[in-house]
Amino acid sequence: MNVALLGFGTVGSGVADMLTQNKDVLYARAEAPVELKYILDIRDFPNSPYEKLFVKDFSVIEADPSVDVVVEVIGGATKAYEFTKRALLAGKSVVSSNKELVATHGTELLAIAKEKGVYYLFEAAVGGGIPALSPLVDDLSHNRISEVSGILNGTTNYILTQMFTQGAPFSAALAEAQAKGYAEKDPTADIEGIDVCRKIAILAALAFGAMVPAAAIHTEGITAIRKEDVAAAEKIGCSIKLLGRAIKENDGDLYIMVAPFLIPKSLPLAEISGVYNGVLIRGNFVGDVMLYGRGAGSYPTASAVVADVDHIARGTVARPAWTDAKEGTPSDFSSFFCRHYVVAEGAEQSAIGIIFGEIEPISGEENAFLTPMLSESNWESCKERFAACGGRIVSHIRLY
Ligand code: HSE
Repeated sequence: MNVALLGFGTVGSGVADMLTQNKDVLYARAEAPVELKYILDIRDFPNSPYEKLFVKDFSVIEADPSVDVVVEVIGGATKAYEFTKRALLAGKSVVSSNKELVATHGTELLAIAKEKGVYYLFEAAVGGGIPALSPLVDDLSHNRISEVSGILNGTTNYILTQMFTQGAPFSAALAEAQAKGYAEKDPTADIEGIDVCRKIAILAALAFGAMVPAAAIHTEGITAIRKEDVAAAEKIGCSIKLLGRAIKENDGDLYIMVAPFLIPKSLPLAEISGVYNGVLIRGNFVGDVMLYGRGAGSYPTASAVVADVDHIARGTVARPAWTDAKEGTPSDFSSFFCRHYVVAEGAEQSAIGIIFGEIEPISGEENAFLTPMLSESNWESCKERFAACGGRIVSHIRLY
């Protein structure tokens, strides 16, 4: 079985290494071992051990009937979209790590793949090296899923961990994550929650059958988190983690969100540190399943890419499927309930109790408290009433 690789960056070079170094452990029928035949990249790599495989023109791959699988690790949704579509239409399966492309054009690309009798697979798009999608498509698909939540971005988890354990400033921790090859080309997608938004959209689509557009997902990043919040979290036995959450309540309302959460340290998600990601899947018979592993980086992500290639080689693919979300999916975020950590100043103390209800002060942290359970719309109206009394919300994080 011949493979063509599109893109020789962080992930692409890892895929080439794994296909080469682990050739003997990949499923390889004697008559059809998995062979890397081409690498497409606009750059030159004169000293690469794969030098002979490089091409610059996608048509060479498209027109070669011996190429069975195209691995797309270019990223973005322009060239990657064009090449993926052309490869599928040419009757080749496509394996991708490209969460942006899957979240924006996945429905169309899955339909083309089905129609052509080939596969569009993207295990590497979510959770780096963790097999996060295959349980939803396969091993747990007979469960009724009520929640899929996760720490889905290695860069932001690395930054938050450095802030917690080293007291590192945000910018230094981000620079380190970039140097280690975890961050997106433009790290805004990491720190503003956009990358997690794409990943939770894919998880939710597989768990609940509907691909929700990014614009319909409430998305917050980590840039507003202060070192005082980290200290307050420690006081109440919590970590702060950027979570993607998709929750189906009473088998009806579906809420999807990306936001920092305070997570009690008794829960496994709270203990996932550094570049590691974690995914929680809650099924009605299996209960809670936790998956844990490296969420970014060349070799872990390559491992997930090669898993899909191997499934195709073995002929053991579970086909991912969903439809585009109907109007009204997800549910209106304003009716989502949780408790909130708040730092509020500038108004009479008595106003706080009157406006937010029965609050729980965080001892030793000035003006910091936990609210009772509030819906998002209640929370918004509390903020407005507090501002009308001359108050100011200095910080706010939801409680898991
Ligand atoms: N920038 C992403 C992260 C890469 O940090 O998780 C993996 O998707």
